[in-house]
Amino acid sequence: MELRVRAFDCGFALANRTERLAFSVMAASKEADSLDSRFYKTADSFFPAYNNIGLTYDDVTLATRYSEILPRDTQLDTTLAEGLQLNIPIISSDMDTVTEARMAIAMALNGGLGLIHYNMPEREQLSEVSRVKNNVHGLIQEPIKAAPEQAIGDILDMIAKKRFAFSTFPVVDGQGKLIGLLPGHVVKQRYAKRKVAEALMPRSELLVLNKKELGRDPIARADKFFTEHPGSHKLLVVDDQDRLHGLFTMSDVERITQERNAQFKPARDVRFRLLCGAAVSATRNAFGELDRERILAHVSALVERGLDVVAVSTAHGHSKGVGDTVRMLRDAFPKLPIMAGNVTSGAGVDFLADCGANVIKVGQGPGSICTTRIVAGVGIPQLTALYVTSSAARKKKVTLLADGGITKSGDIVKALAMADAVICGGILAGCMEAPGEVLEIGGKLYKQYRGMGSLAAMKSGSAARYGHTNDSSGKLAPEGVEALKETTGSLDRVLAQLIGGIQSGMGYLGAANLTQLREQARFIRVSPAGQREAAPHDVVELKTGN
Ligand code: XMP
Repeated sequence: MELRVRAFDCGFALANRTERLAFSVMAASKEADSLDSRFYKTADSFFPAYNNIGLTYDDVTLATRYSEILPRDTQLDTTLAEGLQLNIPIISSDMDTVTEARMAIAMALNGGLGLIHYNMPEREQLSEVSRVKNNVHGLIQEPIKAAPEQAIGDILDMIAKKRFAFSTFPVVDGQGKLIGLLPGHVVKQRYAKRKVAEALMPRSELLVLNKKELGRDPIARADKFFTEHPGSHKLLVVDDQDRLHGLFTMSDVERITQERNAQFKPARDVRFRLLCGAAVSATRNAFGELDRERILAHVSALVERGLDVVAVSTAHGHSKGVGDTVRMLRDAFPKLPIMAGNVTSGAGVDFLADCGANVIKVGQGPGSICTTRIVAGVGIPQLTALYVTSSAARKKKVTLLADGGITKSGDIVKALAMADAVICGGILAGCMEAPGEVLEIGGKLYKQYRGMGSLAAMKSGSAARYGHTNDSSGKLAPEGVEALKETTGSLDRVLAQLIGGIQSGMGYLGAANLTQLREQARFIRVSPAGQREAAPHDVVELKTGN
């Protein structure tokens, strides 16, 4: 009995000790928590404490949080407006050295969005949007063709001159009707004098598909075709009149099928077409009044082509002209997502939201090519601007885009603590998908990158964005510079680096998705020494992280 009592005592004592331990661990951790929270603060307690200074990305850092989240398991989807969902929170800027159809297609294929700029004639912007909306991934829509009356020698010359890596060509007549396929094994010097018409495989022997047979998933259909027809490496697609509509190659289809396993799917509309945005400005007529008819007619034509979002892009969004434009578009297109900006104040967000915008662009002067703050003395460091506008956006139930000033993936993580997505210009301008030629200077390769408020860009049409008219170009005060960016290769590669960085950040914060990122973010100010410590230091750098 005594023994039992002792055993019981002992057990009780043990239980008591464990409880005491647990209690003291809890107390210690509460203490640690409260110490953490005195240093590492939520946006709502951090930014108001710095209400007398403008802060930007490098002024702050985020604290790590307890995490069960692996970076690769994080989700990056973001809904900007009803019907406008992206699978990554990155948008390419509506600038004439960043986004035309090629960039917009690549952005949407990666799960993001491209905004086609407006420094081009309106009909050209319409066809850029059509190119994105009609893009069938993998379908070469304008393949190089041969004509029946050409000699094989002409084809050989063309291959040599244009350095084609292929030698099989569809053959069409003057009306674009498919009449055969010139196979690579007859495109040889020994047959140089023969006509294409003599050497081609005739239409009657070709296996083709009508474009209607491609269905919702053309790549899967093409993949099936190649499996069913061993030896076929090209699939020709025709329309109802038997005109050549395009072609798939087996190697493209295989590459795309592999890419499909990628974590972030392309951003598409309900009809499975790639998402596409386009920018417009608050254009004025010869009397200085808003050119309502012209803006409405153009946006109607964009919408007819399947545009998913229109961006009323100006340097000063909290202004009558922009407000009137947004209101007019909202009345005319009740369901069309409208982005508008740029603003940096809560009042600016309230104004644009009340006019009918769903998505507000935030940023005045943070861009890598911007000189607004120098020229006009106006603008707000980007993180402070994002905090101030995000409080207003929450109340108005609109979403926010952090536009400009992103130079690395860590900046995006900080921006997403308050914004729903980011807009990037400079970081994407060196990609091969950006418009413009590659220039070689001193053995290095560059692409041009210029502000839409630079003199050259304003002369090409963007003056309205900065409140000027094109015809007074001699007197324009530029708010941007013309610059160069070193080439960075493909957009896929650049986005993979950015996405990897965002996912790492989310892993450190214990955030599985962007909503959790916002909840988990804790800020602290960084000293100049802390900024130096954050970058590689005291080493001779051989290679950057990329
Ligand atoms: P990043 O930093 O990504 O910035 O190169 C791109 C953003 O900068 C804005 N932008 C300008 N701002 N003068 C300005 O003050 C300009 O000439 C100019 N051009 C573009 C725009 O918001 C863009 O997305």
